[in-house]
Order: sequence, then structure tokens, then C-alpha cells
Amino acid sequence: MRKTVDFLVIGSGIAGLSFALKAANFGKVCVVTKSQIDETATKYAQGGIAAVLYHPDTYEKHIRDTMIAGDELSDRKIVELTIKESTERVMELIEWGVNFDKTKTGKFALAKEGGHSEYRVLHHKDMTGKEIEEKLILAAQHNENIEILENHLAIEIITQHHLGINVSRRTPDLTCYGAYIYDPHKKKVRTVLSKITMMATGGIGTVYGNTTNPLVSTGDGIAMVYRAKGQVRGMEFVQFHPTSLYNPKESPSFLITEALRGAGAVLKAENGNEFMQKYDARGSLAPRDIVARAIDNEMKMSGREHVWLDAAKIKKHEIFDHFPTIYAKCLSIGIDITKDMIPVVPAAHYSCGGIITNEWGETTIRNLYASGECASTGLHGANRLASNSLLEALVFSHRACINAVNRFEYIPFCHDIPEWDTSGTVLNEEMVLITQSKKELQSILSNYVGIVRSNLRLQRASERLFLLYKETEELYKKSILNPEICELRNMINVGYLIINNAMDRKESRGLHYSLDYPEHRDVQQGMEDRL
Ligand code: FAD
Ligand code: SIN
Repeated sequence: MRKTVDFLVIGSGIAGLSFALKAANFGKVCVVTKSQIDETATKYAQGGIAAVLYHPDTYEKHIRDTMIAGDELSDRKIVELTIKESTERVMELIEWGVNFDKTKTGKFALAKEGGHSEYRVLHHKDMTGKEIEEKLILAAQHNENIEILENHLAIEIITQHHLGINVSRRTPDLTCYGAYIYDPHKKKVRTVLSKITMMATGGIGTVYGNTTNPLVSTGDGIAMVYRAKGQVRGMEFVQFHPTSLYNPKESPSFLITEALRGAGAVLKAENGNEFMQKYDARGSLAPRDIVARAIDNEMKMSGREHVWLDAAKIKKHEIFDHFPTIYAKCLSIGIDITKDMIPVVPAAHYSCGGIITNEWGETTIRNLYASGECASTGLHGANRLASNSLLEALVFSHRACINAVNRFEYIPFCHDIPEWDTSGTVLNEEMVLITQSKKELQSILSNYVGIVRSNLRLQRASERLFLLYKETEELYKKSILNPEICELRNMINVGYLIINNAMDRKESRGLHYSLDYPEHRDVQQGMEDRL
């Protein structure tokens, strides 16, 4: 069960597929994805992709908005290069067949979202991600240099550790030789040796009980790289989207795009009064961290499980033209958004932290790149500006490809890698242990490591999580491998990183708010010291 490939890409969202399409011009690519190819966060993106296109917008304005959202932790160099490449990358998407909405005059119709000082978000109605994902899949499926393995789960990246060498986070030349991939049809682990590996496994939302993320967002890439002794940072910065549809029967939660607020929808309390002005002069379109915290506070004060979003002032034709998915979804549960208010609640949405990369997408492990939500490039700092993540994935997959294709021909395969070791494992018939532990994990993170944190809550979360960690590691060691236990293990690793990074940050900044440290630390240090 051994395979060799020039480029191994783990994940089939915008980061994985855009890299694969470019790398395929130079060598053989294998894309592994743990569910169906289109089951990605990318597919669910609604609002759109931010890019500078027309006057009066400028790169400087977009850079400034991104820096402000990042609350002084974004890396200016990375912000500048990302924004300055935005126009070119979006044009490339259009060349791949992606359609963005246009105005009657033929210009791209641009939307505005929280924290943006200009209209600059390209979109395809309220289903931008679906349009992008479909066109990328089509292009990948027609490319004879790309092999796609659906329902294949990457379980570990391969490093010197698998040659019996002791490695640490300080090991010089820590190198990635490929990955062990679980094939569910054969119920076997395949050894895939690659010259270059691209980690593009997306986000971590499912570690929380209430999330907008699809079930595949279990933080696998971040956990795998962390276990392999690669460097990860900024995991305390979990972005909660202020407005997911309050519908306790449904999981994951359905997103109500910020673009609806950009078009005029406003947040209201139970009594029908607007409340955002109390918290920020920008009202319902203030940056997400502020809006999410304000809603959290309103809910705590009123004792209700949601607040309201009122879109009734938006013209009906605008709702039907621009927000057909949201209109239909809400109608399916008896809410007509042209006249009824929408019950909304914050939900875990985006991980600003992740695998550390440089400006070329290189991780701290040689020959391993990361792009998309699993990466921490330095763009988002302590808080992501809306619609900057699809852009970030395109920019860094592009840059990773430029860097990798210059090197891959000189990288040898490492044929000494052993097959996956299955000795001493037995069939785990206690699936309930895994599902119950997953629920416990989600409850720990939601209750103690949510929008507002404190030392006591984090300490409690850490102690509870340690018990889960010990039980799960024991079960993992003796069980025949199955995807559920691998994902649980990854989620626990991610939970540990979020809690630990949150405990280390003795201040409130961006998405991390602590009752014990409500202020910014005033010492100005470089990003490397702060994250
Ligand atoms: P994903 O698109 O999530 O793809 C990850 C891939 O990795 C999947 O194919 C998954 O199956 C695979 N995978 C994971 N683990 C493994 C494993 N162990 N083995 C094999 N495969 C694995 N951002 C914007 O910029 N604009 C928006 O309008 C916007 N709207 C959003 C709306 C919603 C509801 C959500 C959830 C997110 C939104 N975001 C938006 C964020 C954005 O969609 C994501 O950050 C982005 O799509 C991530 O792309 P990605 O390629 O990194 O990951
Ligand atoms: C949204 O449409 O509100 C989500 C945009 C994003 O997460 O960037």
C-alpha cells in the first residue's frame, strides 16, 4: 500500500484545489480529501471575497482595514503582499470560470461587510463559496495530472520520527516525507510518499458545540503538524460569527451573512430596540469581535438564547436577488425575512491561528507547506477582517506553488519509511465512547473557552480536557484505526492549543477577551513575541 507522488495535497477546499491546479502544470498531484470533494467550508462561504478593484478603493485602505481588524497583531509585510496580490488572484478565479455578480453597467457589484471602509467584496449572490468550489472542482477533475482520492483521511504526516529518530520542535531540518492516509474502502492505511506536501485541511469549528463550520472542520492539519513538532500559534483567536440562525434543532448552524447587515439589516434586542450603538459607533457593522461580544452581553442581560436581526427595511427585490439562499432557508422554518425578524446567535466560525508559515507558505517543517484556514500566515493577527480568508487561501497557495516548483525536482523520495504499524490493536466496538467524548469536548470549549474567558474558566477547561485526552489516547493506542477516533484525537489536540494559548495571553486583544485581563498589554513587541 505505497504510493509516490510529486505533490500531495491534503484538502479539497479553495486552498487545496487552487494549489493543485497550479502544481499540476509541473508534476503529478494527488489530492486527498476526507469526505466528498465538495464538502468543505469553502462551499458554504456566503459573503464573498475581498479585493481592491475600483476607485475610490485603494490597496492602502484595504491594508488599513485589515491592520485595524487584526488589533496590532497582523504582520504588515504579509498584509501588504496579500492585499496587493488580491486583484490578480481574483482575476485568476474568473479565468477558472467563477462568476461574480455584476451591476447593470457591467462592473463587478461590490458589497460591504463589517470593518471594511469601502465596498470591495466580490460575491455570487449569497452562495459565493459554492460557485468557487464548483468551478475549482470542475477544473481539477478535467486535469489529467491531478488524482483525487475522496473519503481518504490523512492521519499523520511522515517525518524523521517514523525512521525512529527522536525529534523535537527544535530539530534542525525536520522534514516531511508525505503522509499516512486511511483508505476507508480497504480499511487500510496507505503510505503516500511525496516530494512536497500541502496542508489545506481548513478550520476547527466543530470543537465548539455551536458552529457555522461543516463537520469536516476538525482541525486535523493543525493537530497533525503540532504532533509532528511543527510550530502553531494564535489558537486563542477563534472568531465567532455574530449572526448564525438560531435554530436549536440544526447543527452545524446556518450562517446569516454579514452582507445582509451591509445591505441594511440591523441587530435588535427583545424589545425591538437597536442596541449596537451602545457598544460601537459603527453600529451593526462594527468588526465581528465587537458585535459578537455585544450580542453575548445582551443575551446574558436578557437571559434569552438569541437576539434579532431585522432585514425588513431592505427592498424585497434586493433580498430575492442577492440573498435567495437565506430567504429560502428562513422561509423553510417559517420566517419570512422581508417582514419577520430573524433570531440570531453567535457561532464559532473561523480560526485565525494555525500552522505558522512564512510569506511563501512554508511551515517550520521542510517540504511541508500550509495554506487556507489551517495556516497562520500573519494576515489576520488577533481578528480576521470579513471575506479576507478566501483571498488569503488563494494568495498563499499561489505563493507556495511558486516556491515549491523551483525545488521539488531536487527532492528525493524517502523509501525507508515503514508501513503504518497496526500491531496490538483490536476492533473498537464502543463507538459511544467516542461520540460521548466529542460531546464533552464541545461542551468544555463552548462553556469555558467561548467569547468571554476568565482564568477560572480556562483552568477548569484545562483540567476537564486532560481527562478526555488521557482516555482518548488510551483508546486510540489499542483500537483498530477508524476516522472517528482520529478526528476526536485531533479535536482534543486543537482544544488543548486553544486553551493553552488563551492561558498564555494575559490581556484582552481582538477575539480574545478575558475578564481577568480586560486591557491591552501596553508593551509594544514584535508579532513573534506576541503570538
Ligand atoms: P476548507 O474549504 O474547509 O477545506 C478543507 C478540506 O480539507 C476539506 O476538503 C476537508 O474534507 C479536508 N480535510 C480536513 N481534514 C482532512 C484530513 N485529515 N484528511 C483529508 N482531508 C481533510 N470566508 C471568506 O473569505 N468569505 C466568506 O464569505 C466566508 N463565508 C463563510 C461562511 C461559512 C458558513 C463558513 C463556515 C466560512 C466562511 N468563510 C468565509 C471562511 C472560509 O470559507 C474558509 O476559511 C475557507 O473556505 C477555508 O478554505 P480551506 O481550503 O482552507 O478549507
Ligand atoms: C459572511 O458572509 O458573513 C461571512 C464572511 C466571512 O466569514 O468572511
